[in-house]
Amino acid sequence: MKKDVMILAGAGQIGMAIARRLGYGMKIVIGDKNLQNAESIAGIMNNAGFDCTALEMDLSSRLSIRNIIAEAQKYGRITMLVNAAGVSPSQAPVEAILKVDLYGTAVLLEEVGKVIAPGGTGVTISSQSGHRMPALTPEQDRLLALTPTEELLSLPMLQPENIENTLHAYQMAKRCNVKRVMAEAVKWGERGARINSISPGIIVTPLAIDEFNGPRGDFYKNMFAKCPAGRPGTADEVANVAELLMRPQGAFITGADFLIDGGATASYFYGPLRPEQ
Ligand SMILES: NC(=O)c1ccc[n+]([C@@H]2O[C@H](COP(=O)([O-])OP(=O)(O)OC[C@H]3O[C@@H](n4cnc5c(N)ncnc54)[C@H](O)[C@@H]3O)[C@@H](O)[C@H]2O)c1
Repeated sequence: MKKDVMILAGAGQIGMAIARRLGYGMKIVIGDKNLQNAESIAGIMNNAGFDCTALEMDLSSRLSIRNIIAEAQKYGRITMLVNAAGVSPSQAPVEAILKVDLYGTAVLLEEVGKVIAPGGTGVTISSQSGHRMPALTPEQDRLLALTPTEELLSLPMLQPENIENTLHAYQMAKRCNVKRVMAEAVKWGERGARINSISPGIIVTPLAIDEFNGPRGDFYKNMFAKCPAGRPGTADEVANVAELLMRPQGAFITGADFLIDGGATASYFYGPLRPEQ
């Protein structure tokens, strides 16, 4: 029997929370570069009544993305995309962050946008980190939004001499995610489908724990202690936003980015988290 299909890219905590919230009754095809992560989450969810299949997928490879789409189509129409795959500034070098988080996300949105079913919805996880970076020029924003995917990594602004460190690479990638979502929303709209991004602040997951234990650990601990919420967030709170965006209640929302960071960005600009001038 054919079912509506969700593609979940990235078998981490945020991805699982969203899939659990929205994926009951669907076929959920879970892809992760680390097959064990995908299998582990598929196992947990299948034991809770979901219908998941795990496979190896590399977000930085168009071939691998096409492969998961083809696999998903065997089960039915693709009506949901959740992209929660990614690497953080403490997990990977600049080139890998740009290849996975920036290029890979752009390719995934493009490829799924070619096949998403009418009424379909997608979310991709960007980051509050991109909101802390100063504004780019309108031309830079336009280039991030509209440059053909295969030319993205050749943009001068993304060359090593213009990227200061892994955090800067991550912020550029996340800014690009938001811009690609805006551009893709136009194309997805032609198919009657919607795509949005969510920019979480610090959410306790293995990725965030790597950051707490990395070179910017104290910075991040200070950030959640001094943000208006006074704590890090949970993956289930990110799923609350995804639920609004992906359900019919969100039918008028597309091409948008939602910041969910306990007020950390607000405090970074106008409160105690403001960097020393
Ligand atoms: N946790 C946070 O504080 C936080 C904040 C803002 C944004 N994010 C973003 O949320 C997304 C999900 O992260 P998470 O916090 O759930 O972390 P997580 O570590 O629980 O999950 C990330 C998953 O992505 C997978 N992955 C890494 N590279 C991949 C690749 N090339 N192809 C396919 N899969 C790959 C990892 O194996 C892992 O299973 C990431 O894009 C991250 O940048 C996280």
